[in-house]
Amino acid sequence: MFHESVIVCFVAIAALSSAAPPPPPSSSPSGEWWRDSFIYQVYPRSFKDSNGDGIGDLNGVTSKLDYFVDLNISAFWLSPIFKSPMVDFGYDISNFTAIDPIFGTTNDFKKLTTEAHARGLKVILDWVPNHSSDEHPWFEKSIKKIKPYDDYYVWKDAKIINGTRHPPNNWLSIFLGSAWEWNDKRQQYYLHQFAIKQPDLNFRNAALRKEMEDALVFWVKNGADGFRIDSIPYVYEDAQFRDEPIVPNSGKPADDPATLKHIYTIDQIETYQLVQAWRNAIDSLGGEKKILMTEAYTSLPNTVKYYEYGSNVPFNFMFVTGLNNHSTALDFKRSIDGWINNIPKGGNYIANWVVDNHDNPRVTTRFGSLRADQNSMLAAVLPGLGVIYNGDEIGMEGLQLSWKQTVDPQGCNAGPERYASLSRDGERTPFQWDTTTSAGFSTSNITWLPVNPNYKTLNLAAQKNVPKSHYGIFKKLVALKSSEIIKSGELQVILATDKVLGVVRRLPNTTPIVLLINFSNDAIQIDASAWMNIPSNMSVYTSSVSSNISLGAHLDTTSLKLNGASAVILA
Ligand code: GLC
Repeated sequence: MFHESVIVCFVAIAALSSAAPPPPPSSSPSGEWWRDSFIYQVYPRSFKDSNGDGIGDLNGVTSKLDYFVDLNISAFWLSPIFKSPMVDFGYDISNFTAIDPIFGTTNDFKKLTTEAHARGLKVILDWVPNHSSDEHPWFEKSIKKIKPYDDYYVWKDAKIINGTRHPPNNWLSIFLGSAWEWNDKRQQYYLHQFAIKQPDLNFRNAALRKEMEDALVFWVKNGADGFRIDSIPYVYEDAQFRDEPIVPNSGKPADDPATLKHIYTIDQIETYQLVQAWRNAIDSLGGEKKILMTEAYTSLPNTVKYYEYGSNVPFNFMFVTGLNNHSTALDFKRSIDGWINNIPKGGNYIANWVVDNHDNPRVTTRFGSLRADQNSMLAAVLPGLGVIYNGDEIGMEGLQLSWKQTVDPQGCNAGPERYASLSRDGERTPFQWDTTTSAGFSTSNITWLPVNPNYKTLNLAAQKNVPKSHYGIFKKLVALKSSEIIKSGELQVILATDKVLGVVRRLPNTTPIVLLINFSNDAIQIDASAWMNIPSNMSVYTSSVSSNISLGAHLDTTSLKLNGASAVILA
């Protein structure tokens, strides 16, 4: 019996290892092509520059589509590519239905989607509803009170105290300081939950709602396979504009939004209803299923609530913000169990695991370079969808920039004393393709953010030439993701010891898939077999670059040695 299952397992590994083409989109009975796959986030400014101006663009992405085929991802999502003054690098949009010339033209976008679709890849756009740029013509007309634009933004009269003008309430911007900015021409304050140049749109206005929905539909008709919805919890605010309560002893400076309990500026019920309306609008267009992914840094209950309002992927940020290099095996177990147990029951909902993104220090910064593969391994072995950020698959590292080099508005607003921990530039440096000029990202020596000097050794080309690399591991993880045992096997998250987390996936009469992660920085020897009820002899499907374990090796799981900070997947 044991030998039989080993043979089955070898066959399964051989099948997983062969570079099979991605399954056709219709392979999922529900038509949900994203199930059991990895989705890849592209930060377009930093991915590939096709015209030598030092900034990535759409033709650059198109030139790399075969790389996505090679990785076998189902889809990629693009941070915003729309017309923008680039104050927040595309998250400040001045025309929701036009491509910014920095990125290319509408034809370049059509070429990208056509060529992606021809390769079985889906294209997901970033949808930024909470705010526009202050250079959007709507805002200019709103200042002048031209109807119906007068009410497209959140305007409020000043509060006059002892004859002095003050903002209408105590709300604070995510980018520090008051969330209100005085406009001299209109003689009112406008709300901006992010940068001053990102005025919040007023979704209580029906005409604005209709404009935004039309723009969403426009992109579906132009080839988008779905959307990542940006900053969704901020879209509606309390209609009475009440002050938010102060967090006692937050220890933060008064301009920091962490000093307030956000009960009136995020998570309002109307926000969920809006997502449902967008879901309905997109579904009513027919055709292949479209994905909606929601970006909400909020409580677990408020995050998972988006499932019931039409989000397929309420981003699960536990690996991005909740856990870090001080987290223990138990912390990971509790977080994973918490997520799995909170997915609403009775629907067709799937879990998701975000490994990284452009707003937070890279996984290698948060967890250390030795743990570069760990969270992608978890995302692969746990049920549902994995989401990675460009560069994760080669273990790219964050770059600490000087104050002079800082361009991110969150970093700039923080000032020279505080920018280091708040700037997001470090995780947005150009992709490291090879050892040529600017790491193969651009033909220009000058790039919008500096290339990490470690590109000479840390780059994709180098990783293709060695037997064990982050890239090689990631490819195996993607293949594993669509295997039957990961799709439908039973899940157990086990503390093999207080230092070692085990994730086991089981199907009857099949060798289990077992992920083991050593959360200690010291080597550990464990009997995983008895404690986790797994075969005493298993083979290595893949192992982290930091591990001493060779791919394909046979291991005695009754006495398994794991290097400090290493991880292994056994089959
Ligand atoms: C989201 C984006 C972030 C941006 C913010 C404002 O959190 O991911 O990059 O700055 O929204 O649009």
